[in-house]
Amino acid sequence: MPSPHIPVITIDGPTASGKGTVAQKVAQHLGFHYLDSGALYRLTALSVMRRAIPLDDEHALAKAAEHLHCHFNGAHIFLANEDVSNDIRAEAVGNLASKIAAIPTVRQALFGLQLSFRQHPGLVADGRDMGTVIFPHAGLKVFLTASVQARALRRHKQLIDKGFSANMEDLSKDLTERDARDSNRSSAPLKAAEGAYLLDTSAMTADQAVEQVLSWYAAAKPV
Ligand code: CDP
Repeated sequence: MPSPHIPVITIDGPTASGKGTVAQKVAQHLGFHYLDSGALYRLTALSVMRRAIPLDDEHALAKAAEHLHCHFNGAHIFLANEDVSNDIRAEAVGNLASKIAAIPTVRQALFGLQLSFRQHPGLVADGRDMGTVIFPHAGLKVFLTASVQARALRRHKQLIDKGFSANMEDLSKDLTERDARDSNRSSAPLKAAEGAYLLDTSAMTADQAVEQVLSWYAAAKPV
């Protein structure tokens, strides 16, 4: 059973801010579990896409989130029993994820699943609302940012490494649109949680950002 006494570190931030890489490394360093909450929205989007559920059918979208048959095994992410680790990283899936993530019933359907990741000895959770909505009492909250240019470059590299085609101009436009949608929605908008430490990683390596988060964690009283 997840317990409120198990420490949680939340790392929120805009798209391609590097939070996934930083969160995974912090989790690895501390021997904690890791929750990639964006993957749950991406898995829902992939499932919606494959079943051609129309975007205006909120009931069916929420049902798709509620009955998401997924599991995580290290870096591998499965939908039913299919390894979709790469498929969910496509920009089209990220964009659809951001659209359905604005629907409150979809967010509600994924709530319990996210809480269930809080297991001994601790959890590092990354996303948009980890510190504001899902784990508001986390012992350490971080809000990662980076310039649009730095984020577009990172996303470009990530997509090319995964075998997708990508160009910087489209990516910068996509990032800006997605940030606006994530920040302006009424349900769990992207914003820094109260008490969150802000970290601009534009000119930092992932390891420098990890070091900073670990030193904040060492100084914080883990809850
Ligand atoms: O990889 P990237 O940072 O672009 O996105 P992601 O973390 O994989 O999340 C994909 C989309 O899911 C985001 O654009 C958000 O709209 C949504 N999301 C959310 O609403 N709440 C979260 N906790 C995580 C992701």
